[in-house]
Amino acid sequence: MAPKFSPEEKQLSVAFVCLGNICRSPMAEAIFKHRVQELGYAPYFKKIDSFGTSGWHIGESPDSRSAKTCKKHGVPVSHHAQQIGSKDFDKFDYVIGMDESNLSDLLYIKPRASKTVVELFGKWRTNMEFDKIVGDPYYGGIDGFEYNFNQISHFTDEFLKQEVGALD
Ligand code: 4NP
Repeated sequence: MAPKFSPEEKQLSVAFVCLGNICRSPMAEAIFKHRVQELGYAPYFKKIDSFGTSGWHIGESPDSRSAKTCKKHGVPVSHHAQQIGSKDFDKFDYVIGMDESNLSDLLYIKPRASKTVVELFGKWRTNMEFDKIVGDPYYGGIDGFEYNFNQISHFTDEFLKQEVGALD
């Protein structure tokens, strides 16, 4: 199957969003960037970033458990937490929430005229053994971060296949 579009036609911009922008969404940004590089999808993307719906952790680096889990899997992480606002929607083709609460907050602040796709990351899952929701790992142990990592890796590969198409 050929790619659905060429990088000359368009390049996609994707934002990942959770509550604090220190655990799940910086992990999603890191995994997605890593797989894009590794699988040769880099020319198809303009911007890959992450945000929180809250401003609680603005400026902070990712939670040490999130960074440790990514490093363990050879995925580099580098981010400073930022809060999403209505004006950010015109910069992204996809704004992707981790859980239902992120999704409803995003739909609430999305400008009415915006064509940005706002969805749960789990929308792209094909392996139903993974939960659709990327659950909040903040108050749990390191196991939650490991689960999130595997789940997000699956969603990432499926997003690339379904939205860009297989590369050969
Ligand atoms: P995240 O996790 O939304 O995946 O970044 C959280 C980080 C911080 C808090 C909650 C969830 N908090 O309550 O401060």
